[in-house]
Amino acid sequence: VKTIEDLQVAGKRVFVRADLNVPLSGGIITDDGRIRAVAPTIAKLVQAGARVVVASHLGRPKGEPDPQYSLAPVAVRLGEILGVPVSFATDTVGESAKATVAALADGEVTLLENLRFNAGETAKDDAERGAFADELAGLADVYVGDGFGAVHRKHASVYDLPARLPHAVGDLIATEVGVLKRLTDEVARPYVVVLGGSKVSDKVGVIENLLGKADRILIGGGMMYTFIAAQGHGVGASLLQEDQIPVVQDYLKRGAEQGVEFVIPVDTAVSGSFPDVKGGAPVEDFAVVDADAIPDGALGLDIGPRTAQLFAEKIADAKTVFWNGPMGVFEHPAFAEGTRVVAQGLIDSDAFTVVGGGDSAAAVRTLGFDETKFGHISTGGGASLEYLEGKTLPGLAALEG
Ligand code: 3PG
Repeated sequence: VKTIEDLQVAGKRVFVRADLNVPLSGGIITDDGRIRAVAPTIAKLVQAGARVVVASHLGRPKGEPDPQYSLAPVAVRLGEILGVPVSFATDTVGESAKATVAALADGEVTLLENLRFNAGETAKDDAERGAFADELAGLADVYVGDGFGAVHRKHASVYDLPARLPHAVGDLIATEVGVLKRLTDEVARPYVVVLGGSKVSDKVGVIENLLGKADRILIGGGMMYTFIAAQGHGVGASLLQEDQIPVVQDYLKRGAEQGVEFVIPVDTAVSGSFPDVKGGAPVEDFAVVDADAIPDGALGLDIGPRTAQLFAEKIADAKTVFWNGPMGVFEHPAFAEGTRVVAQGLIDSDAFTVVGGGDSAAAVRTLGFDETKFGHISTGGGASLEYLEGKTLPGLAALEG
C-alpha cells in the first residue's frame, strides 16, 4: 500500500476522499471531530504544494441535491481548522466543481458538494457507479483515500475511483487500521468490549466474531432490552427486536461454553415516553427499575446506576477496551449517566481504550470528556465494527490494489 509520501503531489490535483459526515443541527456543526481528524492529511498536501480537492458524503440524501445535507458549513469549518481559505463547489462533478478545481493554485483547497447528491455514488449497479467514478476522476490526477468512516461502503468515490487514479492511503486511515490491528492480532487481556446503540441486528456480526476473542462483553443501549428479554423477562415498552431473541440466546449459551462473560444490565432508567432531547425539559416520570421487573408501558432509556457501577468494575482491570455505542439516550441529561460512567471507567482504567463510532465519539465529547484521555477515538462506527468482524472492507481493498 502506498502512502502520501510515495506519491508525487506537488502541482497535482489530489482528490482526498474524506468522511466529513458530521452531525448538524439547524446548519450548525455540533461535533467537528471528523473534520479535525482528517485536517492533518489535507495540511500535509497543502504543504507539499498539491491542489487539494476534498470530497465527502453527508447524511443519506436520496441521490439528488437536498439543501439540508449541504457540505457548505463544513467548508467554512475546514478552512478555520486548516487556517487557509477553502473554496466550495456547489455541485460535485458539474460546472461549479470544474471551475473551482480549475481555479486552484498549488497549495489551495476546495471542497466539493455532497457526493451523495449524485445517484451514481451509492448505486448498486457497477456500471452506474463506474460512470460517476469516471466523472470524479476527471477532476483529479491522484487519489488519497482517508475517509475511514466510509471504507465499509462499496461506493463510487470509495471503491471505484481509486482504481482509476494513482492512489495512496491517507494518514487517518493508516492510524485507524493500526489501532484496530491491535484489537485483532495480539490483544492484551482482559479484553473487554462494551456495546451499546439501538439494534442487536447491527451488532450480530461483531458479537459473533468477538465470541472467540473477548473476555467480557458488556451490553447496554437499546439492544440491552433484547438481551433482557432473552433471559425471559418483560421489557415494557422498551425497544425489542423479537426476531433476535433466539440469536441472543445462542450467544449466551456459546459465551458460557467458551468462557466469554456477557454482562447484562441488572437495572435500567425508564420513562413513560421518549424524552424531549432538544428542549431538555425535565423527565417527570423518571424511574430506575430492576431489569427483571420493568413495568408494562415503561420505556427503558439508559442502564441503571447499579449496572453502571457493575460495568465500571468490569472495565477497571481490563488491559484492552473497545467501546461502541452509547449506553442510553445521552442527549438528554436524565439518561446520560450510564454513558458518562462508562466513559469515566475507560479513562480510569490502565487499559488501551478505543472508542469506536460516530455516536460514542460524539457522546464523549458532548459530555465534556477530554478526548486525549482515551487511547484512540475512531472516526468510524460501522467501519470499525465491520473491521472487527473480519470483513473485507471495499475502501481498504481498493487502496491495496
Ligand atoms: C458513518 O457515519 O458511519 C459514516 O459516515 C458512513 O455513513 P453511512 O452509514 O450513511 O454510509
